[in-house]
Amino acid sequence: MKILFAASECVPFVKTGGLADVVGALPKEILKAGEDVRIILPLYKAIDQSWRDQMEHVLYFYINLGWRRQYVGIMKLVYSGITFYFVDNEQYFGRDYIYGMGGDEGERFAYFCRAVLESLTKIDWIPDVIHCHDWQTGLIPILLKAQYKHLELYKNIRSVYTIHNLQYQGLFPIDMMEDLLYLGPWAYTSEALEFFGMCSCMKGGIVFADEVTTVSPTYSQEIQTAYYGERLDGLLRARVDHLHGILNGIDTVAYDPSTDPHITQTYTAETYDRKVANKLALQRELGLTVDAEIPMIAMITRLSGQKGLDLVECVLPEIMNTGAQLVILGMGESRYVDLFSWAQWKYPNQVSANFQMNNVLSHKIYAGADLFLMPSLFEPCGLSQLISLRYGTLPVTRETGGLRDTVLAYNEYTGDGNGFTFLYYNAHDMLHVIENAVRMFHNQRDIFNGLAIRAMKGQYGWDQSAKQYIELYEMVKKRAEDEAAAEANKPAENPAE
Ligand code: GLC
Repeated sequence: MKILFAASECVPFVKTGGLADVVGALPKEILKAGEDVRIILPLYKAIDQSWRDQMEHVLYFYINLGWRRQYVGIMKLVYSGITFYFVDNEQYFGRDYIYGMGGDEGERFAYFCRAVLESLTKIDWIPDVIHCHDWQTGLIPILLKAQYKHLELYKNIRSVYTIHNLQYQGLFPIDMMEDLLYLGPWAYTSEALEFFGMCSCMKGGIVFADEVTTVSPTYSQEIQTAYYGERLDGLLRARVDHLHGILNGIDTVAYDPSTDPHITQTYTAETYDRKVANKLALQRELGLTVDAEIPMIAMITRLSGQKGLDLVECVLPEIMNTGAQLVILGMGESRYVDLFSWAQWKYPNQVSANFQMNNVLSHKIYAGADLFLMPSLFEPCGLSQLISLRYGTLPVTRETGGLRDTVLAYNEYTGDGNGFTFLYYNAHDMLHVIENAVRMFHNQRDIFNGLAIRAMKGQYGWDQSAKQYIELYEMVKKRAEDEAAAEANKPAENPAE
């Protein structure tokens, strides 16, 4: 099969969140299964020159975007056996940021979606399936169905759309989008793109993709309810026969405590006792009290409301009272930057706040911490809890979305579990669980270590999930072939008498 991933970010080229990790890791597994998988991305200015130097210019052409004629350059790079295409356009992607600020966000990604579809015949590689990710590529399924399906080369292409986060929907004024897309008025009815008076790119994916997936089984259920549905729960219920929850994995080569080049001391489940050297080194590096007996709680996260930081704010002094250290790594909303800056000032030897994206430091934290806090309000999948499990850093999580599917609370009667969890979005419920975990760290270290060693032995790779995606691609491909066969056998219209 030929599968094209269309996405707005991908490691190692450009990353703002977990989406990039998934787009970087899943294709590797699909390739291993023998499929021809390629990836297409925007060529942002942020993509490092060292990558650009390795790219080959394939060709260029112009596309119509409403009344505009816009340049599309296609660059190519083969990296770890996978062909990457990059869409080059200085006007849209030659900027210092990846998302946001410009006010022409809808136009940038409408352009990208159009460019992806137009490039297929130019590069002469027609995929069986285009796998789109999040709202930035949500217009591909509707454009494909509405404007390309009658074309011979496009008619068997099918699309799969993955929701990584339902909260970000890509909502833009209808007039502005129609000016770019030329779909016609039918496209802005509630059956299609219209969403509370706006044009929703997210709906373009959910309504028009052949199959829709989300990144964990629990999240696929949750988004069918009003609480988690972001006003799309009705639509998602209507598409339930085509909605699948497939759990994300992590890149188990990049995140491997037994070989990790970024950490002070490598270790395995068998040599778990060596892990503590990483904590001591990290405490020293971050200017915290250096003491193996102080439990360290880590948060590596986008600083956004989704991540449950309000709960941490509510009980921060109480968390400090447990004596634990708190290490934060991430960027985002200023209210949380203010919160953790204050905390670091107030508890200088106990809190370390690092407002950066820093891959090396993140590895040191995964390896160094004892507990990993993730009290999310909602969590489509969450990757950090999987990484921390693999590093034997026990997650403290709320039972939602992918967290619920991956972290099993310690059960003192059976001994089961690989972390600590709470159900309700309630700061004191969270606090209670943190206090229990800290108490276990001090008083029942054998049990604590046993849980960590069990966590390290879990399977967090992509093997199983990649299989599920491949089955899905096969299903839509088969359906396309059946439709084509039915079409070919159909008696001609108005047969000659
Ligand atoms: C988004 C979600 C996160 C998920 C990631 C990758 O960042 O918020 O839960 O793990 O996408 O699918």
